[in-house]
Amino acid sequence: MATAAVLFLVAVCLFCSAVCGNLGSTKRTFSIDYKNNCFLKDGKPFQYISGSIHYSRIPRYYWKDRLVKMYMTGLNTIQVYVPWNFHESVQGVHNFTEDRDLEHFLDLANQTGLLVILRPGPYICAEWEMGGLPAWLLQKPNIILRSADTDYVQAVSNWLAVLLPKMKPWLYINGGNIITIQVENEYGSYYACDYNYMRHLRTLFRFFLGEDVVLFTTDGNTDKELACGTLEGLYATVDFGTDTNVTAAFNRQRRFEPRGPLVNSEFYTGWLDHWGDRHAVVNTQKVSRVLEEILTMGANVNMYMFEGGTNFGYWNGADHDSRFRSVVTSYDYDAPLTEAGDPTEKLLAIRDVIKQFREVPSGPMPPATPKFAYGFVTLEKVGNVSKVLDTISPLGPVKSEYPLTFEELKQYYGYMLYRTTLPQDLSEPTPLISPLNGVHDRAYVSVNGVFQGLLERDTALVMNVTGKQGDTMDILIENMGRVNFGSKINDYKGLLSNLILGKDVLTNWNIYPLDIDGAIARGWPHSGNRRSVPASRRERLAGPAFYMGTLQSNGIAWDTFLKLNEWTKGQVWINGVNLGRYWPARGPQQTLYIPGPLLSTTRPNNITVLELEGAPAHLRVLFMDRPQLNATAGKS
Ligand SMILES: *[C@@H]1O[C@H](CO)[C@@H](O)[C@H](O)[C@H]1NC(C)=O
Ligand SMILES: *[C@@H]1O[C@H](CO)[C@@H](O)[C@H](O)[C@H]1NC(C)=O
Ligand SMILES: *[C@@H]1O[C@H](CO)[C@@H](O)[C@H](O)[C@H]1NC(C)=O
Ligand SMILES: *[C@@H]1O[C@H](CO)[C@@H](O)[C@H](O)[C@H]1NC(C)=O
Ligand SMILES: *[C@@H]1O[C@H](CO)[C@@H](O)[C@H](O)[C@H]1NC(C)=O
Ligand SMILES: *[C@@H]1O[C@H](CO)[C@@H](O)[C@H](O)[C@H]1NC(C)=O
Ligand SMILES: *[C@@H]1O[C@H](CO)[C@@H](O)[C@H](O)[C@H]1NC(C)=O
Repeated sequence: MATAAVLFLVAVCLFCSAVCGNLGSTKRTFSIDYKNNCFLKDGKPFQYISGSIHYSRIPRYYWKDRLVKMYMTGLNTIQVYVPWNFHESVQGVHNFTEDRDLEHFLDLANQTGLLVILRPGPYICAEWEMGGLPAWLLQKPNIILRSADTDYVQAVSNWLAVLLPKMKPWLYINGGNIITIQVENEYGSYYACDYNYMRHLRTLFRFFLGEDVVLFTTDGNTDKELACGTLEGLYATVDFGTDTNVTAAFNRQRRFEPRGPLVNSEFYTGWLDHWGDRHAVVNTQKVSRVLEEILTMGANVNMYMFEGGTNFGYWNGADHDSRFRSVVTSYDYDAPLTEAGDPTEKLLAIRDVIKQFREVPSGPMPPATPKFAYGFVTLEKVGNVSKVLDTISPLGPVKSEYPLTFEELKQYYGYMLYRTTLPQDLSEPTPLISPLNGVHDRAYVSVNGVFQGLLERDTALVMNVTGKQGDTMDILIENMGRVNFGSKINDYKGLLSNLILGKDVLTNWNIYPLDIDGAIARGWPHSGNRRSVPASRRERLAGPAFYMGTLQSNGIAWDTFLKLNEWTKGQVWINGVNLGRYWPARGPQQTLYIPGPLLSTTRPNNITVLELEGAPAHLRVLFMDRPQLNATAGKS
């Protein structure tokens, strides 16, 4: 019944286009036609077929390539998140240049012929560090994120006063390509359910963007979520994947939006991976079948993701349900375009579906960018983290009786080193305990430079230590990415509570903020004088240490995939660019994507590796011409 009714309304809508189309003025308009249950663009019914792409996950020089491939698939629209923390990682300092040049991205989309659905948050989820919220918000210890909390709302207002005026000229109605704007993101999934917050956002969006732009919300497909996530004046849309009954899902949207266009704002073409979990895939036939069903109903759809990209640097998010689970570096997402932007069979199948509903641009799909297997490079050891502390912690330590968090030291991402001394002789293995589970997220423990083991949030709260009174204990803490979904997004990092060694509470800390990225950007370690450390005994290779090497590209700067076979866990930079985390020991991801334009054809390419647990004796890394996203160590 419902389906028949919807089809009838679509028919009415199309009929209206024939009759009223000529009456439309030349003024650019984009609005909702509540009578005929569709969007109206310049007075004519409009159905969008959209795909998600995140500029923050793709290097700038590949933006156009990915957009053209989306256009050639037959999409008329793209959907784009704006990650607040990507643009304001330091409070009050805004960056919209280079890889952060949002307006350039919008311009490229416009040149390509693509309309834009903008999702400026301020919270975006997106499996992105802290769901896009800047970690400096956590300096207010009691802040209630995503609520009408005064401190939070003040920060949001300041940010939106910067972002939204920039976006206003890009609205379709003002001559740009942004047709609709989402307010917040899946707010109904959040425990706070604070209507005052949503009202405040509505006021800000209207104030900065005007009364005429279509504002909307997106929520999971349950009554509870829609009840907390929707607000009058913001058009309510839903999101769902291939395992959902399409009719039932749109019926639910209808309960909250009795009239207007049907919209699935996130139709899942794939899914994300966490370290240690199985590699997620979504079947192509299912995607095609359900997409066809959605489009047949006359509904609007955004495919999430169409091009996933990469969580470069420290930008991955994490989930915290039963335990903390960090999102892997690749955001390939099993999407129609791969992490490296290559068209897949899923893309071709989607294009075949779209062909039934609108004309797909003629001409060939741009090919995959070329890939190159540069082969093996053998690295050498630079030194363990304790040894290079002067270089990577130029400011030196902060002294504190009890441990301080990353946020308290205003270092929000990456790694910090906590140093203290053993309070007494420990000739027998003595437990080092994190009684309140305060290690966020991993602690690599050395005594006098000798690696002793690690603690891990939620899963490893005790390990053994031996040593002598007065020995130096170094604990390198890794921030694995802040929680991006659910009630635990106030995800402080570092040592959040005391550690106990035997019967002693450890005190008198020297806490070193580490600016590893800054040191590498300034040329270290490749520019420095150093003596190579022979890699003869495996023991020497245990514990957090830096390794370096160079790749001669012999005139070829093509995309490649870096495999750290038998390495354990760490972080990699190439020519100063932080490629992200590797963790082949846990998987499923085995290779890191290196965009070709990062490579130099003439100069040696500088590889820097921070291995946290243990490097293999061979010290080799491998540059391959294809990714491996589904394997665990030993199986690949
Ligand atoms: C802004 O971001 C770009 C990368 O997109 C970076 O190269 C540049 O240094 C940043 N600018 C500032 C002032 O931090
Ligand atoms: C978008 O592109 C069209 C041509 O396709 C151009 O006329 C228009 O000025 C562009 N808009 C903006 C805001 O650049
Ligand atoms: C899908 O939901 C509709 C409406 O609730 C229902 O009539 C139909 O039987 C469902 N289809 C399947 C395959 O479950
Ligand atoms: C790490 O460096 C320290 C300081 O130079 C040194 O004492 C220690 O032996 C090193 N540890 C390893 C495992 O190489
Ligand atoms: C610590 O050492 C004791 C004694 O050797 C041993 O029984 C225990 O299993 C060890 N604990 C851990 C976490 O390794
Ligand atoms: C690698 O580092 C060396 C030494 O600092 C530098 O001369 C060279 O230009 C770097 N290579 C690239 C591609 O940046
Ligand atoms: C991933 O690899 C495992 C082990 O080889 C295999 O069982 C599984 O089917 C693979 N999953 C996908 C989605 O390819």
